[in-house]
Amino acid sequence: SPITIAVDGPSGSGKSSVSRAVARRLGLAYLDTGAMYRALTWWCLERGLDLADQTTVAAAAKDLDLRLSTDPDAPEVRVAGTDVSQEIRTTRISGQVSQVATNLGVRAELRRRQRALVEELRAARGGVVVEGRDITTVVAPDAEHRILLTASEEARLTRRTTELHGTSTQEQLAATRDQVVRRDRDDASVSAFFEPADGVHGLDTSHLSFEESVRAVLDLVAH
Ligand code: CDP
Repeated sequence: SPITIAVDGPSGSGKSSVSRAVARRLGLAYLDTGAMYRALTWWCLERGLDLADQTTVAAAAKDLDLRLSTDPDAPEVRVAGTDVSQEIRTTRISGQVSQVATNLGVRAELRRRQRALVEELRAARGGVVVEGRDITTVVAPDAEHRILLTASEEARLTRRTTELHGTSTQEQLAATRDQVVRRDRDDASVSAFFEPADGVHGLDTSHLSFEESVRAVLDLVAH
């Protein structure tokens, strides 16, 4: 029978890389909901929209021509035919995505699409690992497995800095700290990271390697 594994967590908790690896090992589809908010942000900027104009941005969400690959080995994001997979990870997008993600009209539309995708992937692919910030609570509260990945601020900053630069010097850490702390604060209204909701397994990855985190999730899913 189909299975949904819902994974939430903040930046640097390992949620994307771990979710992708779990999907690969279990032969499930992979859905990155953060990529949807990032893709919409890219599209609004591309069209020169004022992100503070909530009505216009919500309308852009409804019209968004978005294609997501759900292959964990080749996650690709296309907006109106353009491959934006790399571009949506830049600090230009990361620095503005919260403004789009806190727009309630945007959330209603993207959550609707996310729920439909989850249903489609359960039917077509036997299941999905879906990751984000409101998956265990709002998008897939009925998932067979719900996990909140957490990590200390220090661990998260080091991971995110290394992801961005390949190294983590004091200067790079400080710049990442500013960005990540600000985004967590800007996102505070859309995610409840610090407490797993009822029935959600909390998994602290601060002292786990990537491989150990994947193993811990696979263990949770197997029991
Ligand atoms: O880079 P990081 O892993 O922190 O974030 P992401 O998963 O790519 O999500 C980028 C942004 O999208 C977050 O900072 C939130 O503003 C928003 N987001 C959201 O509101 N709800 C989700 N389910 C996923 C992402």
